[in-house]
Amino acid sequence: MNINGKPYRTIWPAEDGWSVNIIDQTKLPHAFDLVTLRTLEDAARAIETMQVRGAPLIGATAAYGVCLGLRGNASDEALDHVCEVLAATRPTAINLLWALDEMQKAIRNQPHEVRVAKAYERAEQICNEDVETNRQIGEHGLGLIRAHAEKKKGARVEILTHCNAGWLATVDWGTALAPIYRAHDEGVPVHVFVDETRPRNQGAALTAFELGAHGVPHTIIADNAGGHLMQKKLVDLCIVGTDRTTANGDVANKIGTYLKALAARDNDIPFFVALPYSSIDWSLDDGSRIPIEERDPREVTHVTGKLPDGGIATVAIAPEWSPAANYGFDVTPMRLVTGFITERGVAPATRDALLTLYPEYRTPDAA
Ligand code: MRU
Repeated sequence: MNINGKPYRTIWPAEDGWSVNIIDQTKLPHAFDLVTLRTLEDAARAIETMQVRGAPLIGATAAYGVCLGLRGNASDEALDHVCEVLAATRPTAINLLWALDEMQKAIRNQPHEVRVAKAYERAEQICNEDVETNRQIGEHGLGLIRAHAEKKKGARVEILTHCNAGWLATVDWGTALAPIYRAHDEGVPVHVFVDETRPRNQGAALTAFELGAHGVPHTIIADNAGGHLMQKKLVDLCIVGTDRTTANGDVANKIGTYLKALAARDNDIPFFVALPYSSIDWSLDDGSRIPIEERDPREVTHVTGKLPDGGIATVAIAPEWSPAANYGFDVTPMRLVTGFITERGVAPATRDALLTLYPEYRTPDAA
């Protein structure tokens, strides 16, 4: 995507040929700062502190983390250690474990002296595949948005999204936002209601930033406004991303997604989840078994923002004696999901439909 007329991905190899550049997402929307990752620890910290975030980008960063961690020692023990450190960074996004698995498949059976080169090769492929996958999600989702535009006889299509599942959450394009970018670029009139997404405000800080940079009309709303807007028929459809979708179609995504899905169902509004194959956890048959990240309560009791003098400050919004809980994700049961928008097409949120899209995961039992 373009920032001030310059095309960027969210992660890319630096000019020295081995270190890795990222956009520091903790600084957005107030500053567009680049950070260079040089070690395994840099990569792990970037994921943990959410300098990079969003399931596909977490996976891509972990892939490069493996490259950085193996420089100097590419033994089996080093590979085990590197994967262990990276796997422990964030628990919910399955793309992290998927990427580490892909890296191990590409490296494990190789002679030690070529492992680092093979690792960089696979990390680059993972990034390029992510861009292409998301581009295809955009194509398939475009059809959906176009259908709404036709039904509305050209009036703008009102879409609600939660958190940030845009290009900043992936290597490029995004998942939930890819169809929106495609529609906008094709001249289909769209407008996006952006949930602010407390506690870390990925909607207000990141989704609004990237939609604005691309010229997509949007309005930030308080997280609790979605239900009201849906009752007033001001939303035509919801599109969100996912950190992990189970084989039966249950969807883990940023905390609050479930409430939006409930409100959408109560108001007969289609609720779509956009996802790449790397976000599907075929080993789980039930969303209740997805590990849910719990983060620092300070993210709930404090907010960070820009002061009138341009400085950035973190301030308390709660009494200092009150405890807080910070659940990062929730699970939307498949019965509340209208369908999935994937790189292979749009499908209902059922196990059968997922297996029809991805027949390679059909086991003899599931056939
Ligand atoms: O905690 P975050 O910011 O990493 O959470 C991100 C989300 O919940 C996204 O919706 C999800 O990762 C899908 S990104 C394409």
